[in-house]
Amino acid sequence: MNHSKNEQLMARKAAATPRGVGVMGSFFADRADNAELWDVEGRRFIDFAGGIAVMNTGHGHPKVVAAIEEQLKRFTHTCYQVVPYESYIALAEKLNAMTPGTHAKKTALFSTGAEAVENAIKIARYSTKRSGVIAFSGAFHGRSLFAVSLTGKVQPYKAGFGPFPPEIYHAPFPCHCANLDEVKKAVHHLFKADIEPSRVAAIIFEPVQGEGGFNVIQAEAVRWLRALCDEHGIVLIADEIQTAFGRTGKMFAMEHFDVVPDLMCIAKSLAGGVPLSAVTGKAEIMDAPAPGGLGGTYAGNPLAIAAAHAVIDVMTEERLPERGQMLGDKLKAVLEGLRGEVPQIVDIRGLGAMVAVEFNRKGSAEPDADMAKRVQAEALARGLILLSCGVNGNVIRFLFPLTIQEPVFDEAMGILRAALPAAAARA
Ligand SMILES: Cc1ncc(COP(=O)(O)O)c(C=O)c1O
Repeated sequence: MNHSKNEQLMARKAAATPRGVGVMGSFFADRADNAELWDVEGRRFIDFAGGIAVMNTGHGHPKVVAAIEEQLKRFTHTCYQVVPYESYIALAEKLNAMTPGTHAKKTALFSTGAEAVENAIKIARYSTKRSGVIAFSGAFHGRSLFAVSLTGKVQPYKAGFGPFPPEIYHAPFPCHCANLDEVKKAVHHLFKADIEPSRVAAIIFEPVQGEGGFNVIQAEAVRWLRALCDEHGIVLIADEIQTAFGRTGKMFAMEHFDVVPDLMCIAKSLAGGVPLSAVTGKAEIMDAPAPGGLGGTYAGNPLAIAAAHAVIDVMTEERLPERGQMLGDKLKAVLEGLRGEVPQIVDIRGLGAMVAVEFNRKGSAEPDADMAKRVQAEALARGLILLSCGVNGNVIRFLFPLTIQEPVFDEAMGILRAALPAAAARA
């Protein structure tokens, strides 16, 4: 039998790689340009997943590619801890200056988001000499063992991987679906029933939960968390891995709230697809661990750093946060216009370009994950790649490159106008 190239690759994937590394579609990438991607059979897609929020500056931005190429010719790896290089320091200086807060800051570079989260916790523990960590239900902080323990979603991330490290506690997340007074009660109950605040090293939160469903934290809750941490000497960590670099209409989502965290985790769109992450924060906290306590063989890879410098320039020159806000507003208007035809829509939310639409079963309060799957399938059949999210899997999130050309964006809006009603009709 003649199998297509994609089918052949899918069969080889199944034979050679574990099923735990799941893939969303049944096609394989060949090349990509800005917001467009072609598979190995030459089929074109519009990419509204952006490698899960990594391609805010688009696939193959010429300035990012040129910066990587230039570094490629000089050196690709020395291990910063063995033979350091200036570009690392220059990037730390930039991130220290760009991130919210005018206090003295320092930055350590790593490779993945989970690594940034793990290191932020290590730094918070070392500086406070405490062990407890509070995270939130619905959070996603990564798949490494400590990061997944902080993650507040069982399937598919936590199930079967326990036991998890002790001294991690979860509270309800103060967003549109939770009452802040209830959240406060839950945290004070934790302090009474599980751990005294003087043993809590850190509270970690996402300003907008990504995997959890694009749940925007309440502004009042951010102020309350800051005050709570100040009262008890707890390190406040903002996980901006998915929200930073223009996604929410500002360079960093914390700029929407008049609150400065002690530490910030950054990754994803920082380096335009080359693995790079960072922990940036208060100098005295960052300086707590002893020399050698932080780092890694690949941490702060020179190719990734070169890409990050270019990404930051592109973000500023092309005013991508503002563009994200404009495109996010347009997308929200398209989704609002579909409410009448798509009764499963129960919420349209988000900050800037970090927009999501949530579905319940028609006329019920029951989350409709099947509808989200149907929307994904109908969009994909029309050439648009979408991602789902949410603890109940009933949310579609939009993570298009902020550099997307207007006609390509409009084409995607046309696909959404057809795909959502088609998915609704198949209920
Ligand atoms: C908010 C947040 N934190 C942490 C991570 C983990 O990042 P990585 O997959 O690079 O380890 C992610 C990834 O989706 C994320 O969205």
